[in-house]
Amino acid sequence: MSIVSAREMMLEAAEGKYAVGAFNITNLIQMEAVVEAAIEKNAPLIIQTSVTPSKFLGKEVLVSIYRTLAESAPIPICLHLDHSTSVEYCIECADAGYTNLMIDASKQDYEENIRQTKQVVDHCHALGAISVEGELGTVSGVEDQVIVAEDEAQLCSPQQAVDFVERTGVDIFAPAIGTAHGVYKTKNPKVDFERLGKINQMLNGNGVKTPLVVHGGTGLSKEYAIKLVEMGGAKFNVSTELKYALINATYGYISENREQYNPGKIDIVVKDAIRNVVGRWIDILGSADKA
Ligand code: 13P
Repeated sequence: MSIVSAREMMLEAAEGKYAVGAFNITNLIQMEAVVEAAIEKNAPLIIQTSVTPSKFLGKEVLVSIYRTLAESAPIPICLHLDHSTSVEYCIECADAGYTNLMIDASKQDYEENIRQTKQVVDHCHALGAISVEGELGTVSGVEDQVIVAEDEAQLCSPQQAVDFVERTGVDIFAPAIGTAHGVYKTKNPKVDFERLGKINQMLNGNGVKTPLVVHGGTGLSKEYAIKLVEMGGAKFNVSTELKYALINATYGYISENREQYNPGKIDIVVKDAIRNVVGRWIDILGSADKA
């Protein structure tokens, strides 16, 4: 029951006015922790890996652990490749068993973005139940290999969004609306909620067909997140906060237990820290008990 694509769970989320938390993991302890947190909350879950951890850990290893965890879990779980700028790597991960892929050709010119995105869509749809996320406009900040300076970030045009979705056939769509990867420099970042609402209205006004993705979750307030879900966000990405939780928990444990040489004890505090972060976001996004 539990191995699903992002599109399936996001269609339900968009109809039900909540968002599925999509959490980037960089190691296997984090992967187990996000799954445990989602099971505790009875929430649907998207596990994400950026390209570097995917290559470092190995896509086949990740897929087999994902399948083992998901097959015995009482909740739907998707394994998503985040921000791949390479069509080839998307195709390799789809073939290996990821159930959602993001081709990020958003730094290419518009026609090239369409061409690359459609190439991934055509491959994944031919394989079956694998969905594809595309992005238009650019999200500032750093996410793995994708680096966009603040003054280079471009918001997504609603008219172009409709054309992009129609021509590429993407299953889920990430419009740039002013959110950013990494830590926000201000408490109230300039997020264009209305733009997200307008894109949602134009794409999904007559019934949800293409659910929307919000990038840059770390550091957004509860109020911002709730408003983004109200405006149509059905997948909500959180990455940096999990990296901080892992490193801070590890550092905290080692500083206080300098004489201990039991790695399992570090794993326990890391898992607790990650579970807390994930559980908190699931509550904010409204996905608890939606599995
Ligand atoms: P943050 O690192 O800001 O949480 O962004 C996550 C993200 O959007 C991954 O694609």
